[in-house]
Amino acid sequence: MVTIMDKIIIENFSLEYSDGTESLRNINLHIPANQMTVLFGPAGGGKSTLLRAINRLNDLADVKHFSGKILLDGSDVLNKKLDTISLRRRVGMVFARPVVLPFSIRRNLTYGYELAGIRDPNILEEGIERSLHQAALWDEVKDRLDEPAISLSGGQQQRLCLARSIIQQPDIILLDEPTSGLDPISTLKVENSLQELKRDYTIVIAPHSIQQAARIADTAAFLLQGELIEVGLGEDIFTKPVDERTQRYIEGRYG
Ligand SMILES: Nc1ncnc2c1ncn2[C@@H]1O[C@H](COP(=O)(O)OP(=O)(O)O)[C@@H](O)[C@H]1O
Ligand SMILES: [Mg+2]
Repeated sequence: MVTIMDKIIIENFSLEYSDGTESLRNINLHIPANQMTVLFGPAGGGKSTLLRAINRLNDLADVKHFSGKILLDGSDVLNKKLDTISLRRRVGMVFARPVVLPFSIRRNLTYGYELAGIRDPNILEEGIERSLHQAALWDEVKDRLDEPAISLSGGQQQRLCLARSIIQQPDIILLDEPTSGLDPISTLKVENSLQELKRDYTIVIAPHSIQQAARIADTAAFLLQGELIEVGLGEDIFTKPVDERTQRYIEGRYG
């Protein structure tokens, strides 16, 4: 028997921005460990807001009010006393546009170690090689680690960001439309490396298209205008959704 453990449990989570936008209403969602959980739905549904809540990036935005719980391994990340720096070390994030630093490929990867005061060359070298393998980038860059990261193609830069997000071995990787700027081949490379990564990590992703959502989802949650409409196994929800609104979206009747 396979027991599925919930890595993240979101309970009655609501969030309102300062301009009065009620971006999420009473969200309840269990996110299993070592799976790919997909948040999908039309723009404005609250996918990015929910992802940012998990590693407290909304702290930096204009939030008026939030309530509920987001339990990571049983402890609430919304606790005001929580150290967000160590939280973000446990929860890596990759954004739509690759954000490479104006340094070499190598230093882009070791920058997190640098900030944490870790200098042991054995740890750094091990991390570089492991994270580049896991991000399916090693073969392409192993002979050019000292070249500027900016010299890489867009797809390679995004895989470098993925490698950077996992080099310190977080528990969870959040990805917000990570392939929206990539060509189809780079997109598939990123998807393949995510499939590898879920053996070691819990992945939560807002895909850039419903086709991608259907390709990669183990579990999928449909968000519409701040509400969680339906959650199910990927193999079910994209072929036989229960809620009529999910069905309409999958059939392409929402923008
Ligand atoms: N920083 C912000 N300030 C005010 N409103 C915001 C902010 N970010 C997002 N919103 C609003 O919250 C709602 C959800 O947005 P978002 O989480 O970006 O959805 P999605 O990622 O599904 O497109 C939208 O109505 C959006 O306009
Ligand atoms: Mg978004």
